[in-house]
Amino acid sequence: MERVVSSEHSHFDEGFEQSLRPQTLSQYIGQAQVKENLSIFIEAAKGRNESLDHVLLYGPPGLGKTTLAAVIANEMGVNVRMTSGPAIERPGDLAAVVSSLEPGDVLFIDEIHRLNRAIEEVLYPAMEDFCLDIVVGKGPAAKSIRLDLPPFTLIGATTRAGSLSAPLRDRFGVPLRLEYYEVKPLQEIIQRSAGLFDVEIMESAAEEIARRSRGTPRIANRLLRRVRDYAQVRGNGTIDEIIVKEALEMLQVDSHGLDHIDHKLLKSMIERFRGGPVGLDTISASIGEESITIEDVYEPYLLQIGFLQRTPRGRIATRLAYEHFGYAYGENE
Ligand code: ADE
Repeated sequence: MERVVSSEHSHFDEGFEQSLRPQTLSQYIGQAQVKENLSIFIEAAKGRNESLDHVLLYGPPGLGKTTLAAVIANEMGVNVRMTSGPAIERPGDLAAVVSSLEPGDVLFIDEIHRLNRAIEEVLYPAMEDFCLDIVVGKGPAAKSIRLDLPPFTLIGATTRAGSLSAPLRDRFGVPLRLEYYEVKPLQEIIQRSAGLFDVEIMESAAEEIARRSRGTPRIANRLLRRVRDYAQVRGNGTIDEIIVKEALEMLQVDSHGLDHIDHKLLKSMIERFRGGPVGLDTISASIGEESITIEDVYEPYLLQIGFLQRTPRGRIATRLAYEHFGYAYGENE
């Protein structure tokens, strides 16, 4: 299902995301806590002429984990190699990547929770002692050989820190949690991107896009591109608040950044289940979306804005959700 408010990465974003990407920590907007931590650890590692300790970036999708990995490498003055958990199928795949690293380089593994266990086992000594034990040959002729690696920094990214095995999680010296962005930093990101696109945007218009971006820079930049199109065709190119409201109404993105799927989910809970508590699988059957998709993709933002609560007895649509859709709260009690 294509959603303009999906926080998942889509290949349509690729070229744009590259061109908008900040290069340095000072250009990187928001995530103050994370930046402060990183700037100290980076300066310390550089002062000692050492590679940076391994970093785990976790949090919801679209908050800039890949961007941050590139910024870290840039600040350290090293190269970054990018790969992902699902792309590393066999120990040999990992060996090929790590053995091509230069001292101090960053290896970025996106979706690191999807690495299989056999690869994890190879990764432990690579992270800890910068060496690789690989088995070559089969049966009685099989031999284990040890390869020395240059010191490197592993940056792992995951939306599900809880799915990482404890031994892997424990090997990251710098675990950092990215948070949803507030409206202000999102507005700044939108204004910065508009500048890079060379399009004029009013402050109030940038703020309105920011409010509807679900706390997520990737969505903010995607909405900005669609609003820019609308302004060019239906307006005179300048993005003001009216253009934003018209464009986002056309895209069916509401005042809180919710789209028709969020509406379907919440309205189904309210209309069919009196707002809950209702089990995830029941919601799934009711709206025809997989439970795991609901849990990973739709729920995090609804929980964040307080429209949904998770309880041991199931999900609950809150008063805020009722009010957002104009339902009277508690009338069914
Ligand atoms: N583009 C996407 N995320 C960004 C961020 N955090 N800072 C600046 N530009 C961005």
